[in-house]
Amino acid sequence: MRKQIAAANWKMNCTLQEANNLLNALSEKSFDLSADQEVIIAVPFPYLLLAREQLKAKAQFYVSAQNCYTKDSGAYTGEVSAAMLQSAGITHVIIGHSERREYFSESNAMLAEKINAALSKGLTPVFCCGEALAVREADGQENYVSQQILESLFHLNANEIESVVIAYEPIWAIGTGKTATSDQAQQMHAHIRKVLSDKYGDETANKISILYGGSVKGDNAAELFSKPDVDGGLVGGASLKADEFGKIINSLKKS
Ligand code: PGA
Repeated sequence: MRKQIAAANWKMNCTLQEANNLLNALSEKSFDLSADQEVIIAVPFPYLLLAREQLKAKAQFYVSAQNCYTKDSGAYTGEVSAAMLQSAGITHVIIGHSERREYFSESNAMLAEKINAALSKGLTPVFCCGEALAVREADGQENYVSQQILESLFHLNANEIESVVIAYEPIWAIGTGKTATSDQAQQMHAHIRKVLSDKYGDETANKISILYGGSVKGDNAAELFSKPDVDGGLVGGASLKADEFGKIINSLKKS
């Protein structure tokens, strides 16, 4: 089975003390992860090394950044490069979260460059896509998401795209408490897999994990993850509580 992944996206939350407490609480929990299950914790930049240290004994737990810049180094005040993340032992990076697209004007073309930057340093990008409410109300979601994938990922070869994790996050479901139904999620995930298969073939498409994000909670995760093309979740609000996120981890499909 392709990897089943529970990914936490803390966004811009937690003081250092709170981050420490949350990491402690997570590290004290024991999980019965099978070989194809993974947990990714995406924390703010100042807490990356702390998270790495706190979680180092947890097998199949990985620490992720929430963003990186397109360039390796230079006069780009305030930015953080994939090369820096790699040198700090970080293995994953979220690319193209809808909040980055909306508040920081990240375009599909810029995200293609960020994907390249991440892959060139051996980082696993968690590439986010998803439509706004108006697009769904006009039934344009499939074309919209196809276009995001085409413009940011389709320059990659099959080997490269196999290293990318995709997260489908409908914007209308993020932080709103309004989760997509498991059928809506499955429909879009199957569409994404078909788009990947048309370009790269079935074998490659079937290896790529596609996560659902948008108001995933402890009590809806099992139903969402039960769908055949939903390979886990990218979790915001509910990842800030260790018990709740623990429940989500325990909801991943077992092979
Ligand atoms: P949410 O956020 O779980 O709080 O809806 C998900 C995300 O934006 O990754």
